[in-house]
Amino acid sequence: MKAITQTLSEIVSQAFAQAGYDPSLGAVNISDRLDLCQFQCNGAFSAAKTYHKAPFVIAGQVAEILQENDIFSRVEVAKPGFLNLTMSDRFLLDQANAIAADPHTGIPQAERPATIVLDYGGPNVAKPLHIGHLRSAIIGESIKRIARAAGHRVIGDIHLGDWGLQIGLVITELQQRHPDWRCFAADFDPAVDTVPSLDVALLNEVYPYASKKSKTDEAYAQQAHQATYELQNGRPGYLALWKAILQTSIADMKGNYEKLGVTFDLWYGESNADRYVPQLMDTLEKKGLLEESDGALVVDVSLPDDKAPMPPVIVRKSDHSSIYATTDLATIIQREEDFHPDKIWYVVDNRQGLHFTQVFRCAKKAGLVPPSTELEFLGFGTMNGADGKPYKTREGGIMKLEDMINTVTAGAQAKLESSSFVDESDYQDIARKVGVAAIKFGDLINQRSKDYVFDLNKFFSFEGKTGTYLLYTVTRINSILRKAGITDGQMHPLTGVYTDSERDLLLKILMGGDVFSRALAEKAPNYLCESAYQLAISFSKFYHDNRIIDEPDEAKRQSWLGLIHLVRQVLLKQLDLLGIEAVEHM
Ligand code: ARG
Repeated sequence: MKAITQTLSEIVSQAFAQAGYDPSLGAVNISDRLDLCQFQCNGAFSAAKTYHKAPFVIAGQVAEILQENDIFSRVEVAKPGFLNLTMSDRFLLDQANAIAADPHTGIPQAERPATIVLDYGGPNVAKPLHIGHLRSAIIGESIKRIARAAGHRVIGDIHLGDWGLQIGLVITELQQRHPDWRCFAADFDPAVDTVPSLDVALLNEVYPYASKKSKTDEAYAQQAHQATYELQNGRPGYLALWKAILQTSIADMKGNYEKLGVTFDLWYGESNADRYVPQLMDTLEKKGLLEESDGALVVDVSLPDDKAPMPPVIVRKSDHSSIYATTDLATIIQREEDFHPDKIWYVVDNRQGLHFTQVFRCAKKAGLVPPSTELEFLGFGTMNGADGKPYKTREGGIMKLEDMINTVTAGAQAKLESSSFVDESDYQDIARKVGVAAIKFGDLINQRSKDYVFDLNKFFSFEGKTGTYLLYTVTRINSILRKAGITDGQMHPLTGVYTDSERDLLLKILMGGDVFSRALAEKAPNYLCESAYQLAISFSKFYHDNRIIDEPDEAKRQSWLGLIHLVRQVLLKQLDLLGIEAVEHM
């Protein structure tokens, strides 16, 4: 289905053409004064310049044509030349019924579906998954769902940090504690030797310990660098240990992401890019882009109109090891080879903006992707605590994702009346979903690039812009439909508009397609949060003003049930696009 403004623009464009003007003047927008009219066209102002006539006269001519069309209940010209449009109830109902019957619930489908690689999550193996990675996972999951809903092919890649110094640190520390493990022996043989199984609690303890120690102990730090280097150069014992670390760490991550409702198509990491590094260096060399700088190899990525100095990107350090930019460039080669994507989007912390500018420029300069490939950095702001500083636990440490999930589940339990649940597992499951909805919505409602304050109390409120309120709204509709004996899949068509609050509700539903298009264009889930919230508010008002189940007029009752069923359908769709799972009751 087309977005409503698209449908209306086509009609108004035709009217402009019929009146003898350029049809492109007929673009229609949602009114920013919904109290005055529902939609607006400001084309008469541009027309006035081209055709040397007063905008009021042009708008009047177009209005006269539009008045003939019964999809409008009112077409007005407001001084000095605005065209204000209000839809007829019949048209609102037809559109609403079409959305209800649409398999995409009114979401406009892309004319030319693109292949998009989405790089999000980005946790580091062997380091505890902490909430710094939470935003990337939450925002990325939503952007993935939004793009897919429009018909694009999206490949979600977690891009694990699995090849860097953190592994060298863990290897070094384990070697100190267990010098007898076969994987540390120079004659380790993968055919016969094994690596002890590791558990995640050990890894979570070892990495911070080793990292801290390396800051003060020069020799230890050197050893960790050496271990990283040897790992990257294929020392068999280290590789075997690395695999064991990866296995344990990934299993733990999968569990946590699953609880969050975040999934990835590819569990590739920096290590997967390693085999493309020679090809990368070769290409850079052949294009004459490599320069030497203090023993390192760098590529100049500055442009003539850069306002601030743009440092060159380092692709090989003086000790010949590859670094973050090297793996990102090599990964672009891999993605191009595997998927030939139209776009690669990176959902990463704002603080990495410069890194990605350098990487993208270098990739384009070296022709790693065609010039038309869109490489885009979708940066996000920091999750702060009440003190305005990056969020910490009460003890001042970094909150682990797992602890966060437990905290929000407990928070939700405190909010829910345990009596209304079937059994303990039902209660647990719903508490987790409500908790996750609270943090996801609390995050996504913010403009992506802005910092925000993580405030669980606020997120759990049953009022205001919260995930809790939205889930609660769905459960209220569920309960009305249940009482009316309506089961899913059984949908009454909408046949009448009886009150103003319905008109408002219908309009909110009809605007969904426009909101969606905007969210996709700007990769901004916050528009969907806002619109889901507005829809829930309109529903509350409608529900407050009318008695649905006891309505004696059967036609009206049926139509209302159809309406709230549709509200539920749209809300569920929007929640799904946000990566939020609804609950049947709460
Ligand atoms: N692992 C990185 C970090 O923790 C984030 C990875 C982002 N993605 C990328 N392609 N570099 O900072």
